[in-house]
Amino acid sequence: MAFVIGGPGSGKGTQCENIAREFGYKHLSAGELLRAERAREGSSLGAIIEKVITEGSTVPSEIIAQLLEQAMREAGWSDSKFIVDGYPRSVEQLKGWDATLSKKVRFLFCLDLEVSEGEMRRRLLGRAATSGRLDDNEETIVKRFETFKAETGPLLDFFGSKGLLERVDGDRGVDEVWQDVRQRFQKVEDDA
Ligand code: AP5
Repeated sequence: MAFVIGGPGSGKGTQCENIAREFGYKHLSAGELLRAERAREGSSLGAIIEKVITEGSTVPSEIIAQLLEQAMREAGWSDSKFIVDGYPRSVEQLKGWDATLSKKVRFLFCLDLEVSEGEMRRRLLGRAATSGRLDDNEETIVKRFETFKAETGPLLDFFGSKGLLERVDGDRGVDEVWQDVRQRFQKVEDDA
C-alpha cells in the first residue's frame, strides 16, 4: 500500500483513480470516507465532520482512523493493495497508523504531489460551481492551505528524511502528471 499526499486540489483523487484502474489498487480517500459518514443517516459524527470540513481544519484523528480501518476491513485485509489518499495528514496520524493499521498491510512509499497554491486555488474554485462541497470556497480554501502547511508539512519532512517520499511535480496537466506517477508504481510492480 502507498499513501498519496498533497495540498488541497493537488490532484490526489484524480491520480489515485488512475492508479486504482491501471494497477488494481483499492482507492481509499480520507475526505470521501468523511463525506460519506457525514451523509449517512443516523451518524453521530455528521455534525462534527461538517463543522471541521467547513472550517478547513482536520477532524480528530480517532474518527478518520476508525473509518479507514472499517473500509480496509470491508475491502479484505488479504488484498493489501491499498492506495490511501489524504491520510495520514500529520505526524500524529502517522504515529496512530504505526501503532495499529501498519501491522496489517505492507507500506511501500508516500507519493507527494507538489503543486503551487495559485494552481490549487484555480482548480478548487473551478470545481466549486459543480462540486457541492462545503469547503470549495475562497474563505475555506485559505484555511485548508494553512492547515496543510502547519500539519502536513512536518509529515512530508519526516517521510523525506527516511527516504520514503516520492515527489512528483503535480503542477502540470493530468496526463503529464500521470506519466510520472505511473512510472513510480510500475517500478513497484517490476520489483515485486
Ligand atoms: P479531502 O477530500 O482529502 O480534500 P483535500 O485534501 O482538500 O483535497 P481535494 O479532494 O479537494 O483535492 P485532491 O487533491 O483530491 O484533488 P482532485 O483530484 O480532487 O479532505 C477534505 C477535508 O476532510 C479536509 O479539509 C479535512 O477537513 C478532512 N480530512 C480529510 N482527511 C483527513 C484526515 N486524514 N484527518 C483529518 N481530517 C481529514 O482535483 C481537484 C480539482 O482539480 C478537480 O476538479 C480535478 O478535476 C482538477 N485537477 C486534478 N488534477 C489536475 C491537473 N493536473 N490539472 C488541472 N486540473 C486538475
